[in-house]
Amino acid sequence: MLKEIHEQSQVARELSHVLNGNKEVDVLVEKMKNARHLYFIGCGTSYHAASVGAVYFAQLAGRAVIPVLAPQFIPQYAPTVDHEDVGIFVSQSGETADTLAALRHVSGKVAMTIGVINVPTSSIARETDVALPILAGPEISVASTKGFTAQLLVLLLLALKAGQDRGTLTAAQVTEHLETLRGLPAFMAQAIDLETAIEALAVKLAESRDALFLGRGTMFPLALEAALKLKELSYMHAEGYASGELKHGPIALIDKAMPVIVFAPRD
Ligand code: F6R
Repeated sequence: MLKEIHEQSQVARELSHVLNGNKEVDVLVEKMKNARHLYFIGCGTSYHAASVGAVYFAQLAGRAVIPVLAPQFIPQYAPTVDHEDVGIFVSQSGETADTLAALRHVSGKVAMTIGVINVPTSSIARETDVALPILAGPEISVASTKGFTAQLLVLLLLALKAGQDRGTLTAAQVTEHLETLRGLPAFMAQAIDLETAIEALAVKLAESRDALFLGRGTMFPLALEAALKLKELSYMHAEGYASGELKHGPIALIDKAMPVIVFAPRD
């Protein structure tokens, strides 16, 4: 897993070129533009990436997206699915049973199914109308790391394309975003260089029984993702919350023993 964490900046460096000039992407952006409902479907970490992607689409392309946990898709949305809808299925492995079940349920009933997938030979890659590769390379660790960041990048690049196509972003704004993205691998490398300081913090964090992660906007799904990672890797109890929600209940749990980790970037 540590090896895969360290590969993130390399993955980010390679990925930015993928969607430029890709004809298939133009077709699916057109389908998404005309869709009645746009669903982003996934499980676990992939659902968190889908949820961040939904915020990107709102902010950059002015497009409402419904992010759905795959096991909820059939009970909650199957009765309303229509031939004008588009489903995006986010899955690193491309084999997750609930995501595949949701895909199979809507195949042939919607305007288009799109996979955001790491394993090109997987069932979801084969069964979607278009499969967009996230090009993270083999992810062996069960806990997704570089797969997650690559999913975010593909969804961000799609949102930029959709924004340009829908006229919510000018060509100059898209160029500016892409220029900023070119700096991302270096920032990722800098973050990874904080490893020693992070290790010292982790030793302190390990003394706690619980941890709370907070974020707003795109940072809310990141808070959920951080809590998921801490739970699955340390067996510590952790929760992610939308920052503004803290006062609606969970604040009761805050005392000196509760570490609170806030995602608060400047933009
Ligand atoms: C958490 C993790 C899982 C997966 C989930 C979906 O670190 O890796 O939550 O994200 O099982 O898997 P994929 O993306 O393969 O569909």
